[in-house]
Amino acid sequence: MKGMRTGTEKLGTTGLENVTVRRHRESSAGGHPSQVLLRLSLSLGILAGFSLGLILLLTQETGSASVLPWTALTQIHGQIQIVGFAGLFILGTAAQLLPGFLSSPIENRTRIVTGGVLVAIGLLLRATFQISEPSVLRSATLGISALGEFIGVALCLWEYGQLARRSIQPRDQWQMIVAAGFGFLLLSLVLNGVAVTTLIRGSKVVPWNLDAAIVQLELWGFIVCMVFGVSRKILPRFLLLPAPNNHGLGMGVLSYVAGVALVASGWLSLAVSLAPPIGSDLQSAGALLQMAGVVAVVWNLRLFYRPTRPSSAPAVTEPFRRWVIIAFGWLLIANALPAIWAVRVSLGGIEPSFFEITAERHALAQGFLLSIIVAYGARILPGYSAWAIRHSRLSEVTFACVTIGALLRVIGELGTGSALPFAAMAAAGGGTVGTIGFLLFSIPLLVVDPRPAPLAKVRPSEKDKSENRPG
Ligand code: HEM
Repeated sequence: MKGMRTGTEKLGTTGLENVTVRRHRESSAGGHPSQVLLRLSLSLGILAGFSLGLILLLTQETGSASVLPWTALTQIHGQIQIVGFAGLFILGTAAQLLPGFLSSPIENRTRIVTGGVLVAIGLLLRATFQISEPSVLRSATLGISALGEFIGVALCLWEYGQLARRSIQPRDQWQMIVAAGFGFLLLSLVLNGVAVTTLIRGSKVVPWNLDAAIVQLELWGFIVCMVFGVSRKILPRFLLLPAPNNHGLGMGVLSYVAGVALVASGWLSLAVSLAPPIGSDLQSAGALLQMAGVVAVVWNLRLFYRPTRPSSAPAVTEPFRRWVIIAFGWLLIANALPAIWAVRVSLGGIEPSFFEITAERHALAQGFLLSIIVAYGARILPGYSAWAIRHSRLSEVTFACVTIGALLRVIGELGTGSALPFAAMAAAGGGTVGTIGFLLFSIPLLVVDPRPAPLAKVRPSEKDKSENRPG
C-alpha cells in the first residue's frame, strides 16, 4: 500500500483521472488491442488447437484414428495452433511491446483488433468447412477463410509498419529479424491461399508436400525469427549478458533464414513433382544451414555466458534465465533432428518418417515455442508477469509440465516410429501433460488484465528499471 501511495502521489490526481478515463474508454471500446488478440489466441488454443491436437493424438495412439477425418483435422489443428494461437499471441504481444520498443504510440487500435478478429474468423471458417462435403457454400467460405487470414495479418502488420515508420529510434538489428519473421508469415499465407484452392476443387486434404512447405514457413520461419528478434532486443538486458556479437548473430540469422527457404523450396519442388532428388537435396542442405544458424545465433547472443553482474532481483532473473536456456535447448534439439535426417539421407539412408517429422515439429512447437511463450509471458506481459511472480511455485509447475510434456512427446513419437514398447503411451502422456501446462498458463492470463498498469505499484531503483523494463 505504501508503494501504491507513492505511485499515486507521483502521478497526481489529474494524472490518475486521465489514466482512469483512458482505461475506461479503452474498455468501453472493446479493450486494448493486446488484450483482445491475446484473448482470441488463448481461446482458439483452448477450444480448438490443443483440444483437437489431444483428441488426434489419443485416437492415433489407441489405434482409432480411422473414426475421424484424421489427416484433414491435423491440418486444421496445425493452422489453428500456428496462425491462431501462436500468431495472434505474437501479434497481441507486439501491440503491447512495440510502442515501448520504438517509443511511438499505436494510432489506429481498431485496425489491429479488426485484423485479429479477421484471422480468428478465417480460421474458424476453415475448421468448420474443410471437412464438410463439397458445395458452393463450402467453396465460398474456404475462399473467405484464406482471405480473412491474409487480410487480418496484413492489417496488423500495416499498423505496426506505420508505428515503426513514425519512430525516431535508429533502425536496429532486432527489427530486421522481426521483419524477416513477418515476411515468412505473409509468404505462408499466400501459399495457404494456394492450398485452399486445392480444397475448393473438392479435396478434403491439402497435398502433403504443399502442406509441409506451409508448416515450414510458419513454424521454422515465422515463429523462430520472431523469437530471435525479440530475444536480441530483450535478453542481453534481462539476463545481464555480455553485449552480443552483432556480426556473428547477423550471419547466424542469415544462415538460418536461407536454410528455412531451402527446406520450404524442397517441399515445394516435391509438391510440383520436380525431380524428387533435387527436392530432397534442398531439404538436406536447408536443414544443415538451419542448424548452423541456430548454433551461431545462440553462441553470438552469449546466452550461455555468465551474467556481467549479479541481478538486483535474482528471484525474478534466475528462473527466467533457466527457462530461456531450456527453451533454446529445445530449439537446438528441434533443428538437430532434421539435420540428423539430412546426414542420414546423404549417407544413403532412408527419408525421415511421419513420426520423425511429427517429433521434430513438436520439439519446436511443444518444446521451444510453448516454453518461450510461458517464459516471456511471465516476464514481459505487464499484468500477468506480476501475477507469475506472486505465484512463483505455480509458474514453476506450469513450466515443468511444458518441459516434461514435450520430452515425453518427442521421445514417444520417435519411439513409436521404431515400434518401441510404451512409446505410444509416452507420446499420449506427453501431449496430455503439455496441454495441462498450457491450461495452467492460459487460464490465469485470460483472467489477469495484460495491459500496462496505470500506476507504478513500486518505485524501482534505476538499476532495477534498466534490468526489468522491456522497452
Ligand atoms: C500438447 C499439445 C499438442 C498436441 C497433443 C498435438 C497433437 C498433434 C497431432 C496428433 C498431430 C498430427 C501429427 C502430425 O501431423 O505431425 C499434430 C500436428 C501438428 N501440430 Fe500439434 N499438437 C500439440 C501442440 C502443438 C502446438 C503448440 C503447435 C504449434 C504452435 C502444433 C503444431 C502442429 C503442426 C504444424 C502440425 C502439422 C499439421 C499439418 O500436417 O498440417 N501442435 N499435432
